[in-house]
Order: sequence, then structure tokens, then C-alpha cells
Amino acid sequence: MRTLNVAAPSHQYPIFIGENLLSQAGSILKPYLTKKAAIITNETIAPLYLNTLQTALASEDIDCFNIILPDGEQYKNWETLNLIFDGLMENRAERKTTLIALGGGVIGDIVGFAAATYQRGAPFIQIPTTLLSQVDSSVGGKTAINHPLGKNMIGAFYQPQAVLADLNTLSTLPSRELSAGMAEVIKYGALGDSAFLSWLEQNISELMQQNKALLADAVYHCCKMKADIVAQDETEQGIRAWLNLGHTFGHAIEAEMGYGVWLHGEAVAAGMVLACRLSEALGRLNANDTDRMISLIQKANLPTTPPKFAFEKWIAHMQHDKKVSSGVMRFIALNRLGEANITEITDTAVLKQAITPYL
Ligand code: NAD
Ligand code: GLY
Repeated sequence: MRTLNVAAPSHQYPIFIGENLLSQAGSILKPYLTKKAAIITNETIAPLYLNTLQTALASEDIDCFNIILPDGEQYKNWETLNLIFDGLMENRAERKTTLIALGGGVIGDIVGFAAATYQRGAPFIQIPTTLLSQVDSSVGGKTAINHPLGKNMIGAFYQPQAVLADLNTLSTLPSRELSAGMAEVIKYGALGDSAFLSWLEQNISELMQQNKALLADAVYHCCKMKADIVAQDETEQGIRAWLNLGHTFGHAIEAEMGYGVWLHGEAVAAGMVLACRLSEALGRLNANDTDRMISLIQKANLPTTPPKFAFEKWIAHMQHDKKVSSGVMRFIALNRLGEANITEITDTAVLKQAITPYL
């Protein structure tokens, strides 16, 4: 097992990464748990992993109850959030009851938001079971639900007490979901680490075949990069926005197509290609670098072109982005592969240039 520390200004906590950790979750997480805990998961993950986690926690005398939610991005909303509150109230959860998120990014984000708001703040623990959630969403304390008009629009910055990433849970992940997670892995290389990007290019086929040692290296590396960024900029006043590479375009795709139609990682993959095209239009990146990104994204079995919809719709969605400030849209562009920047776009002509080939 490898351990990392996230030194966020509001709260420091460990990330545990390794194989077969779920069955040892009781002893590993005991120092971060309260006497009573709610395990919150969904209908797909419960039959796979709930029993193992319950047994592990019972062995340390943690008093647990479960809340099982419907599965899917389309349920990351107020109604499902309320199901969590119903379960907490019915089971007499207190302010010191720990909420345990067992699942992917959807479960992690909605449970984190429930924890941030239940009785004005209950402790929570992330047990991410998808590649995407292990490399990204479980770390850093962004919690949220979607609004029909915009992705992750309602939420809070609220850090977990600990994160436990068991690589063995990835073995039951559908291949489409593994690919979606790989989009966020590729993102880390493109935004801040060209050596990691080269490493990914060399190892992508083995990673896609779930070579556990390589996956462990990738998860550790991404969590380390994210922990470093979150320690410097917990509430996204500056460099944390780099982690949004491809996301402004990606969130537009998710909202336009209907949540859950394109997976988040798929939308980010096509979004990163558009972010490269925007960087080209700004005169910062050359077309060979975009081709390099396209080739890697394709090897991860991810889309490199967005769905077709009108330019005006792109703009309408992207004007809802959380990076919009004083009405001005801001995008993460690349100076080169491995170096991101935040760019204000006041004239949409440059966006038109980037998007037009895909309309
Ligand atoms: P997800 O949570 O929907 O999980 C993907 C699918 O895999 C679901 O059907 C789920 O039930 C299933 N699943 C999960 N673990 C499994 C396992 N081990 N075996 C078999 N099936 C399993 O999707 P995701 O890609 O994990 O997360 C996407 C979400 O994360 C989006 O809502 C996105 O906005 C959010 N996100 C948040 C942050 C953040 O910083 N908070 C960062 C990136 C993404
Ligand atoms: N996934 C973006 C962030 O955590 O900031």
C-alpha cells in the first residue's frame, strides 16, 4: 500500500492506494472513522463490494447502515440528494456519523455534498471504485450535483477525512468506464507533466489491459499531482483551474446531449482535442502536438470528435461554466504539451475557428 498526504489548507488527510484494501478498510480507516457510519453506494456497486466493506467495518465495531441509490449521472440531482437525507434521518444519523461514499465520481460528488450540508457538516470518507474517481474526483474536496442547465453547478468545497483506493475494484469496471477514467489520466500529462505524457504513450496498451502495477503507478502519480495543486489552491482561485483542461467543452457536450449519454470522461476526451484546437487558434500549440494528443486519446478507445450541434449552443452552454468571471469566458489552453494556462476569451471568433471543423 502507498500513502499520500493531501495538505489542503482547510484539512489534511491521507490517500491510501493499493490492492485488496477494501477487505482491510476497517483497520486502515479506523483512525479516520466515527463510531457510526452510513455506507452510501448504488445499485450496481452494492452487490459487488458492499458486503466486503460491511464485514471489514464490523470487524472494528463500526455501527453501519446502508443507503443504496439509483445508478447514473442523470441521478446526480436534488431528488437523489434528498434520498440520502431521507436515509440519514430515518437511521438517526448524527453530526458525527461518517458518510462513506463507495463508488465512482457520481457517488463521491453527491455524498460529499450531502456530508457538507447534513447538520451543517458531517465527516465523510471516499472509497473510489472507478479509475476516474481514483485519479481525480475522490481527491480535493469538490462536491456537487448537476443542474439541468449546467454541470456540477450546485456544490461545496468540502474535504474528506480519508480516501481509500483499492485497485482490485477496477477489475469489474466495464471497459468503456476504464477508458473514461483514462481521459482524466491523460489530462494530467497534458496540463502539467510532459514526461508523464510520454510514459503514458509508451504504456497505454498495457494500462488498457489493466496491468495492475502500471495502474498503481498512474493512480499514484495523478493523485500526487492533484494533491500538490490542491495544497496550493484549494478553492480554485488560480492554478486548480488547470485541472479543467477540456472540461469547458466537455461539460457543454454532457449538458447538450443529456447527462449520462456521453460519459464524463468521453466528453473530456473530445473536449481536450477542442482545447488543443483552441490553443492552435491562439497561436500557442502546433498541429503536431494536437495530433499527438489525438493519437493517445484514440489508443485509450476514447472519442476525439464532439457530437455535432450549433455553434450558438456551444456558446450558450459554455457561458454557464464556473470559470466565467464578470461575464467573460475563461478556458484552459496549452502553451505546449505539459504546460497549461488560463485564457480569457472576449472575442468568440477564436472559438469559432476551433469548433467550426466539428460543426
Ligand atoms: P460513475 O460514478 O457514474 O461510475 C461509472 C459507472 O461504473 C457507474 O455505472 C457505476 O455504477 C459503475 N461502477 C463504479 N465502480 C464500479 C466497479 N468497480 N465495477 C463495476 N462498475 C462500477 O462515473 P465516474 O466516471 O466514476 O465519475 C464521473 C463523475 O465524476 C461525473 O459526475 C463528474 O462530474 C465527476 N467528477 C468530479 C470531479 C471532482 O473533482 N469532484 C472530478 C472529475 C469528475
Ligand atoms: N477535477 C477538477 C478539480 O478537482 O479541480
